[in-house]
Amino acid sequence: MAKLFAIIILLSCYYISTAIASDWSYSDQQSWANGENQCDGSSQSPIDINTQEVYYNGTLKLDFINYDHPLISYKVTNNGHSIQFDYTGDVGSAPAITGTVLNNEIFRLAQFHFHWGSAKHIGSEHKINGRAFPVELHLVHYNHAKHDTLSKALEARDGSVSVLAVFFEIKKMNPGFEVVADMIDKLQEATPEQSQFMRETITLQNLLPKNSEKLYRYHGSLTTPPCTEGLVWLILNQPNEIGRSQFEKFLGVIDSHSGEKIANNFRKIQPLNGRKVESSFKPDMVNKGFVHMATSSTIIVSLLMIFLSIVGISPLLSIQ
Ligand SMILES: *[C@@H]1O[C@H](CO)[C@@H](O)[C@H](O)[C@H]1NC(C)=O
Ligand SMILES: [Zn+2]
Repeated sequence: MAKLFAIIILLSCYYISTAIASDWSYSDQQSWANGENQCDGSSQSPIDINTQEVYYNGTLKLDFINYDHPLISYKVTNNGHSIQFDYTGDVGSAPAITGTVLNNEIFRLAQFHFHWGSAKHIGSEHKINGRAFPVELHLVHYNHAKHDTLSKALEARDGSVSVLAVFFEIKKMNPGFEVVADMIDKLQEATPEQSQFMRETITLQNLLPKNSEKLYRYHGSLTTPPCTEGLVWLILNQPNEIGRSQFEKFLGVIDSHSGEKIANNFRKIQPLNGRKVESSFKPDMVNKGFVHMATSSTIIVSLLMIFLSIVGISPLLSIQ
């Protein structure tokens, strides 16, 4: 009897320790869903935005608060899944987003982090018309007037968390990104416990593309377990740019636990399940019109040729 108890205790210790140590990984996404989280929910993120199927809503406007102020209090962590910057200053002076796109309520920044790929054509979580970008930045905000903390806002699942997503392309060097690139470089091999409080100032506006007016909005979830739903996603249409050497800082980032590269830390595309994606701008009608015209003119020409060949041949036939 005592032996049986010892075995049971040993086995439960083993299960508990493996549960803690294993955590979750991007290579095993189908096992994210379990009874306690929402990873198999019906409003999951990320999604592929089909610009031919978005709903134009001309009233959508995004406004920035303190995005042009230097970010003073924050800490940076290599958490094994990403490089994350947590805002540690007082809420009142935190950068924030608002505007009609958020029903004019103020959403304060809690943290931001990146997703990236091992090559140019993969990396971002969201896609536009099937196209991925090498890097996607997530700026996570919450409605502090409604909830004290980000985790309480998440638990409420009531639209009190909004993530602003920004794509990056590899083009020319971006001087405004250099501070962030340096920090990523410093934390490439750091453990989660070695998070660093940095003194260099970051200005969030430098992380945004020139045009931050063209955006998409939809309701989704966290893209990592527990995949909590009830988030308002705002996706900027125009990508920002970084240089090749700046992008390469990402490629050197490793998960200290496994010793493996973090690159390709993106979740696979989730089904839309009838959700509506809105856009603040009219989809590219010129392109759309051109495609339609090209298709219809091809059909007309083909029909005309068939018609001509029948009509053109039959008089000849009737003459003979
Ligand atoms: C457009 O967005 C506004 C602001 O969020 C919202 O109140 C309105 O219902 C939206 N319009 C449509 C047609 O969905
Ligand atoms: Zn993210």
